[in-house]
Amino acid sequence: MTDDERFSLLYSLMVRVFGRTEREPRVPAELPVIAGYTSGVPRLGIPSLKMADASLGLRHTGGQGDGATAFPAGLALGASFNPALARTIGCVIGKEARARGFNVALGGGINLVREVRNGRNFEYVSEDPLLSGLVGAGMVRGTQEEGVLAVLKHVSLNASETNKFFLDAVIDPAAHRESDLLAFQIAIEQSEPGALMGAYNLVNGAYACGNRALLQETLKDAMGFKGWVMSDWLAVYGWEFALNGLDQHSGAQLDAQEWFNGPLRQAYEDGKVPKARISEMVRRMLRSYYAVGIDQERPCGPVDFAAHHGVALEAARQGIVLLKNEREALPLAPGKGRIAVIGGYAQAGVLSGDGSSQVMPPAGYAAQIPARSHPLLGPTTMRLFGPSPLAALRQRFPEAAVSYDSGAHIAEAVALARRCDTVIVHAIRHEGERFDSPDMTLPFGQDALIDALASVHDNVIVVLQTGNPVAMPWHAKVRAIVQAWYPGQAGAQAMTEVLAGDVNPSGRLPVTFPASVEQTPHPRLPGADVELGTPIRVHYHEGAEVGYRWFARTDRQALFAFGHGLSYTRFAYADLRIDAGETVTATFTVTNTGAHEGADVPQLYLTEAAGDVRMRLLGFQRVFLRPGESARVSVRADARLLARFQAAEAHWRIDAGRYRLALGRSAGELVLHGDAELEERTFGR
Ligand code: GLC
Repeated sequence: MTDDERFSLLYSLMVRVFGRTEREPRVPAELPVIAGYTSGVPRLGIPSLKMADASLGLRHTGGQGDGATAFPAGLALGASFNPALARTIGCVIGKEARARGFNVALGGGINLVREVRNGRNFEYVSEDPLLSGLVGAGMVRGTQEEGVLAVLKHVSLNASETNKFFLDAVIDPAAHRESDLLAFQIAIEQSEPGALMGAYNLVNGAYACGNRALLQETLKDAMGFKGWVMSDWLAVYGWEFALNGLDQHSGAQLDAQEWFNGPLRQAYEDGKVPKARISEMVRRMLRSYYAVGIDQERPCGPVDFAAHHGVALEAARQGIVLLKNEREALPLAPGKGRIAVIGGYAQAGVLSGDGSSQVMPPAGYAAQIPARSHPLLGPTTMRLFGPSPLAALRQRFPEAAVSYDSGAHIAEAVALARRCDTVIVHAIRHEGERFDSPDMTLPFGQDALIDALASVHDNVIVVLQTGNPVAMPWHAKVRAIVQAWYPGQAGAQAMTEVLAGDVNPSGRLPVTFPASVEQTPHPRLPGADVELGTPIRVHYHEGAEVGYRWFARTDRQALFAFGHGLSYTRFAYADLRIDAGETVTATFTVTNTGAHEGADVPQLYLTEAAGDVRMRLLGFQRVFLRPGESARVSVRADARLLARFQAAEAHWRIDAGRYRLALGRSAGELVLHGDAELEERTFGR
């Protein structure tokens, strides 16, 4: 390759820069408006890169007809505890990308949920590195099996949106390896993503996208990542980032300079950048192009959107979590009864999240409602997917009298509730990229609405469509609570099927629901009290003790624990056996002792390691059982979850001693216990 050809790979261009109307002239005119374009080298058969956002489906590129299958939130996929489902979703995204001529899917955000107010958590998977890593790997495998290169993001931390460009995330390096970086490490090992995307924030004093310790020494040297590292869009501050492990500058027009175009070339000409480094940047990219096969033409017929809708429906079904179900309020059996459906724009559609993961379904948006206008980032828009929960419920229960009230006036909603046998409240909170929620309350006075309804009616069912845990001050007064997240284009049907008992809920919380932010490591939202642009430092003192791990370490009781989720049947666990060696393997029997078929997710936890109170999810298995059916399940722990990372020696160490394990329905409900004696040992990676 000539130097010109080499350098042409090292940056991508936005097709149309944010806020401008004209297109980038260097991008082929026929290319739809997608996130990034990198020219190829036709002389050598090197394809150009056409990068589309794809966390929750392929991000639409323009007007009507540019739709794509819109999947539920990443937290819903996390709640399924089903990496195989993630792979199926990844495959669908790959097929739809191919059909549109895109060959890079900017997908899987697997940042751990450290901050329950983070606007982007809906795009992410969980608070646990094993769950996030396995689900992220599933997405990558599915997409890359379709010959589309998958990207995992954002390395690393980027745990909140407030002031993220000026936020220095400070974390103990060993704790970092045992938490956020372990999620990436598991995903890299399991799926070999073609590329990783750096984060906006600083990590331990250096911008993530130019952070040598993070990109070169950890991802590439220590973890053996073979692909390339691209920046996020508007996250590069100099050509020197190339010397610290960044291989490609994304959306180059956005930054002060197209750093990896002119300036890096000049630095190279000036002998400041070794040719070997430029060669390595190019080789990492080409290695991934050919490992994934984006240069290979593949026949792809018309997209089967009906089949893909079925995948979105299954994802919504498996992601819905039944949090509370008092006196068997659910499943519904209204007969000719009267049902009040209140709030949440339930007459229009289901809510979706905002930002670069926003997908427009093939049917388009059912409604677009101007939402909170951020002081600096401007207006946001709530986008709803049809059909509506109201329509779906009426269709499911044609003999029932189903009435709707917007919930705008509590008195009217209460009056309707008084006339009905069942009250279903849809509670929403619009969240998205660029902004965090200030607290854990529901906006638009919904907490007061729910409280008022529950004060006059003893059969109130709350359906949450939120991108994060919420505080639920009314939780004791309502009879049932269903967490549906942003349920995707098939959300109304899936919710109705769960409410009606046509589908047995099987979702398990991928994040802890605190009773209040006071229980979290950072009660005050980092950066909330400073002017945007003020450099801030957030010391993630909790280290690797994220979510349920923090609650165990500090002996706190969550409102709803990580892994929690009810069912319309019951599952019994028995005959736990622990085998110990280089790691531990737990074998146990799960039995469906109830009257409904359904899926359960038994979870294996470490609760104490050689005297150290330390909770770790060691493994899980989703099992589907018919009434009376049993399954013998075996879960083998990743040894790193039993170990501590030794930063100085750059290896993992399992201390000798007794390891206490538990089989649980959640981190807060441990059912069977067992011990294992382990020998001390150290191991790399
Ligand atoms: C965004 C996001 C990133 C996305 C990229 C391209 O700002 O941080 O997740 O893939 O830019 O749209």
